Amino acid sequence: MKNIVLTGFMASGKSSVGKSLALKLNMKFIDTDSLIEKKLSKKITEIFKENGEQYFRQQETKVIEEVAAFTSCIISCGGGVVLNNYNIELLRKNGIIVNLYASAQEVYKRISNNKDRPLLQDTSVEKIQKLMDYRKPFYENCDICIETDDLSVEKITDLIVSKISVF
Ligand code: S3P
Repeated sequence: MKNIVLTGFMASGKSSVGKSLALKLNMKFIDTDSLIEKKLSKKITEIFKENGEQYFRQQETKVIEEVAAFTSCIISCGGGVVLNNYNIELLRKNGIIVNLYASAQEVYKRISNNKDRPLLQDTSVEKIQKLMDYRKPFYENCDICIETDDLSVEKITDLIVSKISVF
């Protein structure tokens, strides 16, 4: 079976939905940020602070090269994976790419007390919206797009399961 690859802006629910999908479909759950942290024995925030974003992106692509070769996995990706077309080309070979969309207001609500996202420190709805607008064409380059704002994790999981059945 193909991988199900979850993309989408930070805090769009990729990890929660990914774990729920993995349980429902009895597939292995993989989180690219966790793999990077494990490999480098550092938190994402520390990698950004000590090595910079460019280094983080290089490590991210290395992890994508590894996981894209797997099959039958739920792969939850960091929100910036889509920015490098090479990552998406690799993931598409064995995978169906699903984009989870959440509005800037909803993302702001979800991250307001969270210090784990280096790109969203001291942010605002306006700043989130600006970054989202820039990334929009990258997120739209997917096979399935789900609007998540008013939906529970269970409902999003069911929607994805029904939509992948046509692939
Ligand atoms: C990033 C998203 C983060 C993490 C890093 C960069 C991004 O993952 O990979 O902070 O550029 O959108 P989440 O989408 O899981 O927060």
